[in-house]
Amino acid sequence: MKLQNKIALITGGTSGIGLEAAKLFIAEGAKVAVIGTNPERLQAAAQTLGDDALVLSADLRNPADIDRAIGDVAATFGRIDIVFANAGAAKAAPLEGITPEMISDQFALNFTGLFLTIQKASPLISKGGSIVATTSFLNAVGAPGLSILSATKAAIRSLVRSLAAELAPRGIRVNAVSPGPIATPFHTKLGLTDNQLSEAAAAIEAQVPLKRFGQPIEIARAALFLASDDSSFTTGSEFVVDGGLTQI
Ligand SMILES: NC(=O)c1ccc[n+]([C@@H]2O[C@H](COP(=O)([O-])OP(=O)(O)OC[C@H]3O[C@@H](n4cnc5c(N)ncnc54)[C@H](OP(=O)(O)O)[C@@H]3O)[C@@H](O)[C@H]2O)c1
Repeated sequence: MKLQNKIALITGGTSGIGLEAAKLFIAEGAKVAVIGTNPERLQAAAQTLGDDALVLSADLRNPADIDRAIGDVAATFGRIDIVFANAGAAKAAPLEGITPEMISDQFALNFTGLFLTIQKASPLISKGGSIVATTSFLNAVGAPGLSILSATKAAIRSLVRSLAAELAPRGIRVNAVSPGPIATPFHTKLGLTDNQLSEAAAAIEAQVPLKRFGQPIEIARAALFLASDDSSFTTGSEFVVDGGLTQI
């Protein structure tokens, strides 16, 4: 058991990578708090994760929701050992189709929401704590139609270095996990037609040296490594799990 008696906060823990991580962390002995917004997915997550999970509805674009959610975690568990800051979403659009609202909306969730989650959780984390942020292969390569999502992920990569430096004196590690294309509902929310989606999926799959999409459990295992003492001498780093897409 790699996370015996640990308390883990997982944003986006109701779907895809975050849900898989929540299951894995519980199997490794942790109690988890998961955050999402969609009522059906929240209910399904509560059922799947059972008594070891606190399932919280909070829109991370709203700072007051973050305050409330962290307050609930504090009231229930009293402390946080692990933050998996993983929630993210995007709308695909070409340069000429992007509006100021699309930029602020994606940054509000992917960057500001992640930042404020870590900021508000930080007083509850003590020495030995671990923060893991989900970045993306898109912070290392350019892809048409995904400029804003990619920029949010590059901002997170930078933040991980800064926070690792700031929190090292407190004995708290901060790292990123960088997924390649992963089979989750994420892509269906990009606002693409079914045709556009299957074309984009085929194109990206062809570029991945391992010639397939990754599975959410493959990212969850990397998050577990970074969250646990197995990575006790690792901070400020980015663990790339992308089938070789950005590395070969
Ligand atoms: N799938 C990929 O190919 C891929 C590749 C690289 C990086 N990533 C990153 O991996 C992370 C997880 O994505 P995923 O693939 O697991 O996608 P997913 O299945 O769509 O999960 C996204 C999670 O984020 C939550 N979320 C979305 N908007 C939210 C909001 N405003 N407030 C709070 N929670 C919110 C969702 O909850 P609700 O649905 O309940 O709102 C859901 O739990 C994201 O940061 C994504 O950018 C994914």
